[in-house]
Amino acid sequence: MATLVVVGSQWGDEGKGKIVDILTEDAGLVARYQGGHNAGHTVVIEESEFVLHLIPSGILHAQKQCLIGNGVVIDPAALIEEVDDIEKRNLDLKGRFYISRNAHLIMPYHLALEKGSENSLGDGKIGTTGRGIGPAYTDKMARMGLRVGDLLHPDLFEQKLRANLQHYNTVIRALYHQEPLRAEPILQAFVRHTERMRPWIADTSLLVHNAMIRGEHILCEGAQGTLLDIDHGTYPFVTSSSATAGGACTGLGFGPGRVDHVLGVVKAYTTRVGSGPFPSEVQGALDEKFRSIGKEFGASTGRPRRCGWFDAVVVRYAARVNGLNSAALTKLDVLDTFDPIPICTGYRHKGTLLSDFPTDLSILEECEPVYEEAPGWTTSTIGLTEFDALPQRAQDYVRRLEDLIQTPFSLISTGPARTQTIRVCDPYR
Ligand code: GDP
Ligand code: IMO
Ligand code: MG
Repeated sequence: MATLVVVGSQWGDEGKGKIVDILTEDAGLVARYQGGHNAGHTVVIEESEFVLHLIPSGILHAQKQCLIGNGVVIDPAALIEEVDDIEKRNLDLKGRFYISRNAHLIMPYHLALEKGSENSLGDGKIGTTGRGIGPAYTDKMARMGLRVGDLLHPDLFEQKLRANLQHYNTVIRALYHQEPLRAEPILQAFVRHTERMRPWIADTSLLVHNAMIRGEHILCEGAQGTLLDIDHGTYPFVTSSSATAGGACTGLGFGPGRVDHVLGVVKAYTTRVGSGPFPSEVQGALDEKFRSIGKEFGASTGRPRRCGWFDAVVVRYAARVNGLNSAALTKLDVLDTFDPIPICTGYRHKGTLLSDFPTDLSILEECEPVYEEAPGWTTSTIGLTEFDALPQRAQDYVRRLEDLIQTPFSLISTGPARTQTIRVCDPYR
């Protein structure tokens, strides 16, 4: 048995959903460990496309157990809508889907607070997904959050809700000049949510532990990406959770010694949604070309993603802070018509060449990317399943990236579908 952690190695949307779906074939249990419905993980099965936000991307395999760990923040309405969508597609979740009783809840006032805060930041706004993620994690750390387990104690739930509303309505009124929220409609909605969620609520750390004892492979699914991690990302232009590999241990409840393999998902170029520095970003026609070929629009919000060349400084940094054992390279096919293909190998800062990613935002913002050029292969790689079948120049590009990020590729993806994958080696071994 092995425990495998899948993380995003750039700014999210690397193709984690596709990779997790494929790796679920051999897993006994798939677990989401952080983030919330800010994530949008796409899985393509034959003609159908599924976008998962909270539920692990393994759920489309009919028999597999899936769970949402304590590190995730859950908006009950969003979760229930997602379950309904999956059940409408004739997939049964009964007895194989669980949520942690210690996961925190996203409450209606979190949405109001986030809206107010983003508006007040003006040009300096983070460009969040508007899902209430930041305020929910703020409450968690401030020890005033409501947790899934609180739903099972209605009196306590009501007491905590009223206390939080009293506090936050003052902020909402005075700072953001919005209407205060009333407790009654929230309480009524949460009674309905609780009835629906009750059968899913569990001690998920124990479920993971039991699966480990049974000798199953455990697949831990990260959301967002390393550069959006609250500690290791481009703060403050980050999300509010631990998207790096360490988040799997705290977000699910097992020790670091249990992790056998950390797999980073790496897009063959770079994208980012929302504000913040992005050294290898391109503009104009190139940006448009990436967006149209790569379909680079947010899976959650539909916002256009900012696009740029592969940034080896970023991914080398991700390899370090996550301790990547291997990586899955995705969207190689999107580069089929680009020639030449620049690769960012370092940054120049005030005349000095940097090969390590600067975590100081004021330095990062002043960095100029240093590129080397790879020749394009200008022929289709879509759907190829053997490394040797790739055009020589595509093979050279892949090998060069491996060199630069000091991490081998265990998978190479050549299209959105399950079958469009080169399996170099098995990350569970
Ligand atoms: P995630 O958030 O990391 O799961 O990634 P998203 O689902 O937000 O975005 C990745 C997009 O790329 C989705 O539309 C996938 O269907 C698509 N995709 C994944 N792998 C490949 C690939 O190898 N080639 C192409 N062309 N598309 C891919
Ligand atoms: P997946 O899992 C890309 C970005 C937002 C914003 C910042 C903070 O699909 O890769 P938040 O709503 O989390 O407070 O927003 O983080 N962001 C993502 N970008 N992919 C995601 O998820 C993201 N989740 C959040 O755009 O810049
Ligand atoms: Mg996504």
